[in-house]
Amino acid sequence: MKKIIYYFTGTGNSMRAAEKIAGHIRDAEIISMRNAPKDFPAIDADIIGFIYPVYHWTMPLPVAKFVEALSLNSNAYIFVVTMPSFINGYACEKLEELLLEKGAKIAYGAKVHCVANYVINYSPRPYPKWVVPRTEKRIDKIASDIADMKTKDIPKAGALVRKRYSKIMPKYHELMPLYDQGFIINECCNSCGLCSKLCPCSNIEMIDGKLAFKHKCTHCMACVCYCPKRAIGYKTPDSVMDLLDGSLINNVFVKKMSLPPKRKIYHNPYVTAADIVVTRKKFD
Ligand SMILES: Cc1cc2nc3c(=O)[nH]c(=O)nc-3n(C[C@H](O)[C@H](O)[C@H](O)COP(=O)(O)O)c2cc1C
Ligand code: SF4
Ligand code: SF4
Repeated sequence: MKKIIYYFTGTGNSMRAAEKIAGHIRDAEIISMRNAPKDFPAIDADIIGFIYPVYHWTMPLPVAKFVEALSLNSNAYIFVVTMPSFINGYACEKLEELLLEKGAKIAYGAKVHCVANYVINYSPRPYPKWVVPRTEKRIDKIASDIADMKTKDIPKAGALVRKRYSKIMPKYHELMPLYDQGFIINECCNSCGLCSKLCPCSNIEMIDGKLAFKHKCTHCMACVCYCPKRAIGYKTPDSVMDLLDGSLINNVFVKKMSLPPKRKIYHNPYVTAADIVVTRKKFD
């Protein structure tokens, strides 16, 4: 039986879940959605999983693009596990919609509340030492459900998200191409190039020992949180400020994005930078 779990991760929470579930269902392969979908199709897979964080109340854009281009067996047992911090929103419904276009259905859906990792907005929360053990337990429960090929309806967006989404979130997506202009590299950077290897969007190029951002950033926080020198800071760029000042949507949350040197950062304690760099792994 062929089993593939596709995952997308910035700070390791989703990769940790993929690894734990793959270890539990045995004989499975985990594949990062940073790979090209055409190189890792699931046409002959019997069990197919999708695991990813929630960005702006929905599925991260790179995940949507990956799934759109993926060929898969529509008769497989398909599961989704989303890794929100607080609001799951449309994260599972978006996958359901994309898979329906391929004639496939989700058999099992679950969300796991994790540490919130958007550290250019806030300190990691709730307190990781408190949340991570709970997250681990919840993943174990989901892993045993999946091993038993149980069925479960996907989590759906609540009333608040349905009412407010179109007023708040499209602005984030519109501004995304400008976001990486806000990164500030300090003098601690030793040009090791790790951030470039970690970036799931191939957004960082090292040119003559300096970082060049290519405007494909999804704000996954991998570079910020795994940099061994803590050399990457952030402040909302003037270009975004100007756009917000000139628009009717005055998004205070976006305006305040910054990463003061003393703010705590976060990555999943079980997932190292070396783990993130490996984008395909087999489990016996
Ligand atoms: C750009 C961005 C947007 C986010 N938006 C949401 C959100 O809308 N709802 C939520 O519950 N968590 C949100 N989060 C938190 C992440 O979904 C959460 O921390 C996740 O577990 C991170 O997974 P990872 O470690 O695999 O990258 C956001 C994080 C980032 C970086
Ligand atoms: S990981 Fe940090 S130290 Fe290494 S090149 Fe990137 S910013 Fe510089
Ligand atoms: S540049 Fe940094 S924050 Fe943006 S996608 Fe790449 S690793 Fe993530």
